[in-house]
Amino acid sequence: MVTTTFNTTKSEEIFAAAQKLMPGGVSSPVRAFKSVGGQPIVFDRVEGAYVWDVDGNQYIDYVGTWGPAICGHTHPEVIAALHDALNKGTSFGAPCYQENVLAEMVIDAVPCIEMVRFVNSGTEACMAVLRLMRAFTGREKLIKFEGCYHGHADMFLVKAGSGVATLGLPDSPGVPKSTTANTLTAPYNDLEAVKTLFEQNPDEIAGVILEPVVGNAGFIPPDAGFLEGLRVLTQEYGALLVFDEVMTGFRIAYGGAQEKFGVTPDLTTLGKVIGGGLPVGAYGGRRDIMEMVAPAGPMYQAGTLSGNPLAMTAGIKTLELLNKSGTYEYLDKITKKLSQGLLKIAKETGNEACGGQISAMFGLFFNPGPVHNYEDAKKSDLSKFARFHRGMLERGVYLAPSQFEAGFTSLAHTDEDIDRTLAMAHEVMSSL
Ligand SMILES: Cc1ncc(COP(=O)(O)O)c(C=O)c1O
Repeated sequence: MVTTTFNTTKSEEIFAAAQKLMPGGVSSPVRAFKSVGGQPIVFDRVEGAYVWDVDGNQYIDYVGTWGPAICGHTHPEVIAALHDALNKGTSFGAPCYQENVLAEMVIDAVPCIEMVRFVNSGTEACMAVLRLMRAFTGREKLIKFEGCYHGHADMFLVKAGSGVATLGLPDSPGVPKSTTANTLTAPYNDLEAVKTLFEQNPDEIAGVILEPVVGNAGFIPPDAGFLEGLRVLTQEYGALLVFDEVMTGFRIAYGGAQEKFGVTPDLTTLGKVIGGGLPVGAYGGRRDIMEMVAPAGPMYQAGTLSGNPLAMTAGIKTLELLNKSGTYEYLDKITKKLSQGLLKIAKETGNEACGGQISAMFGLFFNPGPVHNYEDAKKSDLSKFARFHRGMLERGVYLAPSQFEAGFTSLAHTDEDIDRTLAMAHEVMSSL
C-alpha cells in the first residue's frame, strides 16, 4: 500500500538547492532520476538492507550504493574495523600492511590475478588496464561492447552503458575523435562481429574488454560459449582478454565471473565490493603483464590515496564476511526468489517482461525478450519502467532509477524483505 505518510518535502527542498550548486544537483548523473522522472530522494542514513531519506521514509534498498554494500550497509564488523583503522590515520602515502592483506585475498580469490595494483575507482582501474594492454602488446586498438560501461575515461565513451545509456547520449562532447579512433565496438554476445574486427585489424588489436555479465545496460548474461569464444579468439590473434569485474567481482561468486564461468582472462579490473563502501578500484592479472607496471616496469600509473589503510580495511573485512560458508548460496536463494517472483507477477498482471539473476545481481526488462545485447535492451518499455519505479518508491522499495542498470541484493536482505517487495510489485504492476 502507498504509505499515507509518503512525504518528500525535505528531499525536494534539498534537491532544489543542490541543483543551483552542482550540475543537475548530483555528483553522478543517474542519481538525478532523469530517466524515471520525478524528484530523487535525498538519503539520510543506511543500515543493513535499508535506507532512510531525510523525510524519515524507509526503503528496502536494491541499489546498495551501486554494488559495494553486499554485506548490507554499515555492517557492524566493517564499521568496527574502520574505527580502529581511523585512529591510526586515514592515508599514509606510503606502504601499509593492509595492502598486503587485501592483495593476498584478491590473488587467492580471482583466478587470473597473480599481482594486483590498487587505485581509487573503477574508472581509474579501467583507464590503467587499457594503458597496460597497449604497453604489453605494443598495439593501440581495443574492442569493447555496445552497452558495456568501463568508467568515464575518453577511450571508453563509445556506445557506453550506465548513465550514458540512461540519458541516451551517443557519445560525450569533449571526447576528441582521435581518442576514440582506436576503440572498436561490437554487439554483446556476437562472436562473429568480434571475429570480423580481428580479421579487419590483424596485429593491431591490443585486447578485448567486457563486462562478463553486463550490468550497465540492464542485466544481460553471456550466451553459452561467448566468453569461451572470446578466450580462443584473443589467443589466436595475440591479443589480451580483460574482464571488467568492477561490478561482478566478489558479487556473482567469490572469484567473480571468471570463477563462475570457468574462463580465465589475462587481466581483470575490480572496484565496488573490494572497497566495502570506500573508494577503491584495482587491476591485476598475469604476473608477466603486471610486472610492466611502474616501478617494477615502465608503464606509469600512480595515485596519492591509492591503497590507503581505511579503504583497504573496509575491503578486507568485507571479503572476510563474504568468504564464510553459505554466503553465495544465500545470496543466490533470495535473489532467485525475488527475480522469479517479479517475472511471475509481471505475467499474472499482463505486463510483458523478461529478466534473470546470477547470485546477488538481477534485472527485469519490460520487454518480451530475450535480451542478448544493448539493442534488445533498448526495445524495453521505458515509460512503463518509470511508472513501476515511482510506484515502488512510494511503497518503500528503492530500485535503481534506470531500466539500464542491474539490481543488487545483500546478505542483509531477508525472506521477509523479498516477500514485502513482491507484494508491493504486485500492487504496482496491477496498475501499470
Ligand atoms: C563494470 C564497471 N566498470 C567500471 C565502472 C566505473 O567504476 P567507478 O564508478 O568506481 O569509477 C563501473 C561503475 O559502475 C562498472 O559497473
